[in-house]
Amino acid sequence: MYNTWEELEKAINNCQKCKLCNGRTNIVFGVGNKSADIMFIGEGPGADEDRLGEPFVGKAGQLMNKAFFGLGIKRENVYIANIVKCRPPQNRVPEKDEAFACMDYLRNQVILVKPKIIVLLGSTALKNILSEDRSITRERGNWIKSGDILYMPTWHPAALLRDETKKIQFWKDLKLVKDKAQKESLKT
Ligand code: URA
Repeated sequence: MYNTWEELEKAINNCQKCKLCNGRTNIVFGVGNKSADIMFIGEGPGADEDRLGEPFVGKAGQLMNKAFFGLGIKRENVYIANIVKCRPPQNRVPEKDEAFACMDYLRNQVILVKPKIIVLLGSTALKNILSEDRSITRERGNWIKSGDILYMPTWHPAALLRDETKKIQFWKDLKLVKDKAQKESLKT
């Protein structure tokens, strides 16, 4: 556990804790407000993210940005990270050992940001952050309280690209987040 962002970023620099280091161009650490009230956690970098070193800058990210814009959430007011920080080959789901190797970094980011709300984007985030037996289909759109944090599981934005009908549910879930944030005077 590192007490400062500088120490954490230095520790992750040149990480070789798992095999994903072999194919990466950039480590995709995280982006946004380092004392955000709301944090978004995705799965892992895709090709655009790997190239640019920033999470959610490709097609899925652009869709998420549209929802942010529509709901009045500013990307620079929230913090965005992923379960794994290096791109899995062919964008496959991160394997157990990869997610495990990267989890301490994410846990450290959460401790430093101290978010009140964490939005879990898709099944990989839900299962790795809360528990393996959870189901995104069953649990999306429902608040889950664990410790001091409220979790909102929702679809991964890439799922909206494959199935248009999920868009409305994604928007509804983020609207719940926006409404809760407004009620509690949280930064959005
Ligand atoms: N998908 C993710 O899960 N994370 C990103 O950063 C981009 C796409």
